[in-house]
Formats: sequence, C-alpha cells, structure tokens
Amino acid sequence: MTQDEQKRAVAQAALKYAQEGVIGVGSGSTVNMFIDALATMKGRIDGAVAASETSAERLRSHGIRVYDLNAVNELLVYVDGADEVTEHLYMIKGGGGALTREKIVAAVAKKFVCICDASKLVPVLGKFPVPVEVIPMARSYVGREMLKRGAQPVLRENYKTDNGNLILDCHGLTLLDPPAMEAELDNIAGLVTNGIFARRPADVLLLAGPAGVRTITAKRL
Ligand code: 5RP
Repeated sequence: MTQDEQKRAVAQAALKYAQEGVIGVGSGSTVNMFIDALATMKGRIDGAVAASETSAERLRSHGIRVYDLNAVNELLVYVDGADEVTEHLYMIKGGGGALTREKIVAAVAKKFVCICDASKLVPVLGKFPVPVEVIPMARSYVGREMLKRGAQPVLRENYKTDNGNLILDCHGLTLLDPPAMEAELDNIAGLVTNGIFARRPADVLLLAGPAGVRTITAKRL
C-alpha cells in the first residue's frame, strides 16, 4: 500500500468510533480522509467539533454540522492524526499548526483515537521538530528559553495560527520523558501550547501498514 492508501485505510477504520452524538475531529491530511469517509455515514452522528478552520470548512462542505466546543456538553471521541507516535501513544503534533485547538478538543474527549500511517510510529519522540505556538510579542523570549533547553527554534515563515499566533518549530529537543517536558514547556510565559501530547496521550492508535490496519492500545509506563 502507498502512504496515501494507508491513510485512506486508517481513516475508514476510524469510522467505527464515530457512532453517535457529536465527535471531535482533528486536522491534517489523514483527518481530511477521515472527514471524507465520515460524509458517507453522516446521518449516524449529530455533527462535529473541529480543531481547525480548515477541518471545519471541509466538514461543512460535506453537509456535516460543525458545533462550537462551548455548545457541547461532552465529546465521546476525538479522531486525529500525529506527526510522531510511540507505543505509549505519546505524540508530537502540530505539523499543520493546529496544536492548540487539537489539545483543547483532545482534553474534552473521553476517547482519543489517533490515526496514522506506519511512517509515524517511532521508538522515541523528537526527530520531528516540536512545534510551539507563541504569542507574537514573546517570540524572542520563547526562542531563548527553547535554546536553553537544547532546542534550535525555527520560526515558521509566513504562518499564523487560527488563533493569530506564531509557530516556532523546535529541532533537537531531547524527549526521554515526554510528559515532564510537556509540563515544563507549558510553564514558559508567552508559549501558548507545545506540540508534545503526552499528559493526555491517545487511548487507541489505529496504525496502517502494508498488511492492513492494526489497533494498538497504550503500553502505560
Ligand atoms: C496538525 C497535526 C496533524 O495531526 C499532523 O500534522 C498529522 O498530519 P498528517 O495526517 O497530514 O500527516 O497535528 O496540527
């Protein structure tokens, strides 16, 4: 299977988690395929909360109702991709820049289903640069704080998040204890969200490979 075929297979496999009510939907190319698959059975759910404007637009284009998160009491499930994922279901996310809204929707959801092609599974996080969303006036300060922690921050050129902020892609961060680093980065003033998703890891990973889709549940430490 090509990478695109793997993404399509895993998107299709995730449909079984979208049974009722309002579901959370992340962003990215794998999620786009999930949204397209969802359109084939949209009568089953009431609608979706989207983690990005792009996903919201795609959902609406299929006639799927998009809810404001504040209008929803509960989300049974959140389906999203990842840039890297480990067998503990820790992730790096934010390659598409939607990390803040993704972390919020993931926090609300009872179950986080991560959908990935095989290239995303890694033994240790950190080859993919950790995106951090930054309030514009804090850009230099946050950059210096990331340097102190051994990372090389690179400003994402010509890019603004849905929240009007900047992204620094932080290369070379050592991530031996992802939950601890996630918490530490959250304490930097002006840093809105970091792309380590470990304190609220995924509950289920659907991983597509050449032989089909595997369901992996977290090996907790
Ligand atoms: C966006 C994300 C995406 O989930 C991540 O970038 C994976 O995207 P893709 O499915 O296109 O590889 O975190 O902020």
